[in-house]
Amino acid sequence: MKISVIWTWYVWLIQAVWLAKIGYEINAIDIFEDKIEKLKSWVPTIFENGLEDLLKETLSNINFTTDKSCVVWSDIIFLCVWTPQDETWKTDLTYIKQAANDLKQILKWDEIVVIKSTVPAWTNKMIYELLWEKNPVVSNPEFLREWLAIEDFFAPDRIVLGFKTWESEENILKVLEVYKYFSEKNINVLKTNWQTAELIKYAANSFLATKITFINEIARLADKIWADIKDVSSWLGLDSRIWEKFLNAWIGYGWSCFPKDVKSLVHQFGENGLEWWIIKKVDEVNESQVNYFLEKITAKYSKDLHWKTIALFWVAFKPDTDDLRESRALILVKELLKMWATIKVFDYNSQALENFEKYSYSLSTWIRNFIPIVISKSFLDMTKNADFLVMTLEDKKVLAEDFSKVKENLKEKVIFDGKNILDKKEIKNMWFEYYWVGY
Ligand code: UGA
Repeated sequence: MKISVIWTWYVWLIQAVWLAKIGYEINAIDIFEDKIEKLKSWVPTIFENGLEDLLKETLSNINFTTDKSCVVWSDIIFLCVWTPQDETWKTDLTYIKQAANDLKQILKWDEIVVIKSTVPAWTNKMIYELLWEKNPVVSNPEFLREWLAIEDFFAPDRIVLGFKTWESEENILKVLEVYKYFSEKNINVLKTNWQTAELIKYAANSFLATKITFINEIARLADKIWADIKDVSSWLGLDSRIWEKFLNAWIGYGWSCFPKDVKSLVHQFGENGLEWWIIKKVDEVNESQVNYFLEKITAKYSKDLHWKTIALFWVAFKPDTDDLRESRALILVKELLKMWATIKVFDYNSQALENFEKYSYSLSTWIRNFIPIVISKSFLDMTKNADFLVMTLEDKKVLAEDFSKVKENLKEKVIFDGKNILDKKEIKNMWFEYYWVGY
């Protein structure tokens, strides 16, 4: 079986590489020459645990190319195209439509087009019609997490496939064949219709976002009544009906997809003439969570951060990535700068720091001209001569840092921990003044 994967961006690159590892011949197509050149020389274009080794192992099975016409010899074409949302929260289908329009000039009639992109209900139908109803179109949402995508791809909780209701048995079997490796391992493969598959993806991301938001709200009450939020989360999670994952009360969720997919789901409710209640609130509460954390800082300093230098640990939206999209740290930075604080930043991922530096140039001129942002060389270097430390990352590497040196370095011995990563007893025993999310 020959497979093409269109766009090699983020987790979709993993799709291409893993299918090659399973033994398929893959065409991996992208519009960017420089990306394709890098991939051909085994250089990962995204940060993913284990990707470089996997690339080396599978390169002989992958043809990285910018030439779309090579899809013609494929049995299956995975369409993995970016679907952002516009300012009205509607999913912007421009890129996927464009990709389908390009394909329709090239395709014969029997290549199966599998849509991996997160798309609202009826998009698969729309793409089918756009392709002159010639080629089978299948919805196959992905559930990979950034940075852990290789691990997730290897051990998925389920595989969801949405077909048109009158799809031929032959085509269904062809798609099931691609995922035989998983069904043989007793991983559930769901065969359903297009809209059900489309909705499962939005419901999954929105449910996880709701779970996070729920615990974030509980943390606000925990703060008031001095209940230990970490204990609340872990003992709540021991109930097998609730489950321990995604119950960390932090500064709110960021990219990659929760903010976008929650907003799109709200829009889909509206489009279908329905009122939205829970998910609209999830988005609102999440947006306010970073401010809730910020208030802990402003309450301590009576909103006067003039002349304060803040050591800010971490800028990306999650550990080991360079991905700054909707990172809560960036929202925090903007707010702190407005209060005239000077910021020293460090991140273990040097690419994330470079991206942050570029981002800082996009800030308004008055901010750039008047308030310095310092990019530090190390965690300890960042804390040198800073007044206090703000942490926005759950990277366990920080636990190996020498906090007695941090104490020497900081002018005030104050830490605001937005990811509750430090051990509260230990850090308080070191005589730090320690603030976190939830008591
Ligand atoms: C998420 C989903 O987990 C994937 O299943 C899905 O495929 C992907 O979106 C997507 O649609 O592309 P991802 O955004 O990469 O994956 O990362 P997560 O690990 O889910 O974390 C998302 C955000 O939630 C992060 O900002 C994280 O800090 C936050 N989070 C996570 C919490 O605030 N609390 C938690 O307990 C867990």
